[in-house]
Amino acid sequence: MSTLSYIKNFIKDRDVAAITPSSSFLVKRVCRWVDFTAPNVIVEYGPGTGVFTEHLVAEMTRDSKLVLIEGNQAFVEKLRQRFGHDERVEVVHDRAENVEAILEAAGESAADYVISGIPFSFLDDAVKHELLQRTRRILNDDGKFLVYQNYNHMEKPLRRHFGHVHKEYEILNLPPMFAYQATK
Ligand SMILES: C[S@@+](CC[C@H](N)C(=O)[O-])C[C@H]1O[C@@H](n2cnc3c(N)ncnc32)[C@H](O)[C@@H]1O
Repeated sequence: MSTLSYIKNFIKDRDVAAITPSSSFLVKRVCRWVDFTAPNVIVEYGPGTGVFTEHLVAEMTRDSKLVLIEGNQAFVEKLRQRFGHDERVEVVHDRAENVEAILEAAGESAADYVISGIPFSFLDDAVKHELLQRTRRILNDDGKFLVYQNYNHMEKPLRRHFGHVHKEYEILNLPPMFAYQATK
């Protein structure tokens, strides 16, 4: 069902950048970097049909907040159907590049985690660096930027904007993915 939805949207929208959602192995690898015992403000860039979102809403505390920023209209509708009833979740049809205004409109001044699945390689260099700068700005001092990408092109730009970058590789995903944890 979800793979079909990806294929249909992949054909129409190059930003979808995948023909199937991330695997449960990748979701677990990235989400184990989140401390789910604390109330968190979490922002997700490019949730797609919500495979990470599903895990986040199941694990996060009742007083946490999750802001989903998705650029594809069809996926936004799906996300609203799946998570619209959860008052901790806000689904925003917009681009991650506008994260500062989106977070402010959501009534939050900073985030504890930003989790990103958007294809950074599709962004112009200037736009990419601007988004990394904005992401750093909205994160709390001990906040984490968690990124997954299908080749290792984000290590260098992440190191330029963040003080510490930890990298892992998840082979059990189609395609295999690099996962990064970046902190200030
Ligand atoms: C590779 S898919 C990942 C989807 C999902 N997170 C997963 O892991 O299966 C990339 C997603 O990012 C969205 N996207 C791409 N560029 C975006 C941007 N600049 N802002 C917000 N969403 C974007 C696409 O529409 C798509 O849903």
